[in-house]
Amino acid sequence: MVKILELARARRSVRSFDGRELTEEDRAALRAFADSLENPYGIPVSFRFLDARQQSLGCPVVVGTDCFLGGKIERVPHCEEAFGYALEKLVLYACSRGIGTTWIGGTMDRGAFERAMALEENEIMPCVTPLGYPAAKMSLRESMMRKGARADSREPFETLFFRDDFLCALQPDEAGLLYEPLECVRLAPSAVNRQPWRALVCGKLVHFYKKASKGFVSAAAGDLQKVDLGIALCHFELCAGECGLAPRFVLKDPGLPCPDGFSYIASYEIA
Ligand SMILES: Cc1cc2nc3c(=O)[nH]c(=O)nc-3n(C[C@H](O)[C@H](O)[C@H](O)COP(=O)(O)O)c2cc1C
Repeated sequence: MVKILELARARRSVRSFDGRELTEEDRAALRAFADSLENPYGIPVSFRFLDARQQSLGCPVVVGTDCFLGGKIERVPHCEEAFGYALEKLVLYACSRGIGTTWIGGTMDRGAFERAMALEENEIMPCVTPLGYPAAKMSLRESMMRKGARADSREPFETLFFRDDFLCALQPDEAGLLYEPLECVRLAPSAVNRQPWRALVCGKLVHFYKKASKGFVSAAAGDLQKVDLGIALCHFELCAGECGLAPRFVLKDPGLPCPDGFSYIASYEIA
């Protein structure tokens, strides 16, 4: 099995596909995986395969596939984090099978996708992803989008992660067994590559916070940066599990002082 950190390093958003349909085997494997997905919040997420051509779904940034996967969840507290966690597990699984994905929360005909998902009043569909096999060459639009979002770069480790309080940066060589799980968080995808996750290590507890930017909250999609945090929790938990740290999810704000614009999301206790 490929290690989660290697998968996190290998994954990138794929917007240019080679035109081949998903094989029956890959489709069935993704379906079974989606049906088995759980998340630490215990809020069910339901997934549907969609066909952009048959269902007239517009997603102008994607070329070379008609296959999409949409997800929806009840609109309750923490639904965005739960959604982010669940769909990212599927994204990593797809990547391990050579299947390309891209989180799409903005650049699509949202109304058409929501109708195809049969979204109910009390439900939300934060994002969808295309599914298919990556093309050998990226479309010009995709290369330009990647440059615009500086999609190949990430913030340095010591600007994202802290020890004891937010004044003390955690250097990579001080992180010990937490290095790989935190590095895995650092590499995660986020809306417009904004990387809003911050983590504070206090003894055996790792507290996750969201550093909010403007423009990521809407009635239709919810808070896309909370989705980003759900993705970060997924990367942390999977990698910490592989490293033998037995991460235990904890939802209890420690009430520690934090910079303006930061809000508590969740914690993990490690062995
Ligand atoms: C919650 C979320 C929403 C996103 N929405 C879009 C989108 O609407 N359109 C798009 O082309 N990419 C979207 N992305 C992809 C990001 O732009 C991409 O993950 C980021 O630039 C980093 O690039 P990478 O995924 O190749 O590492 C989204 C990513 C996340 C996590």
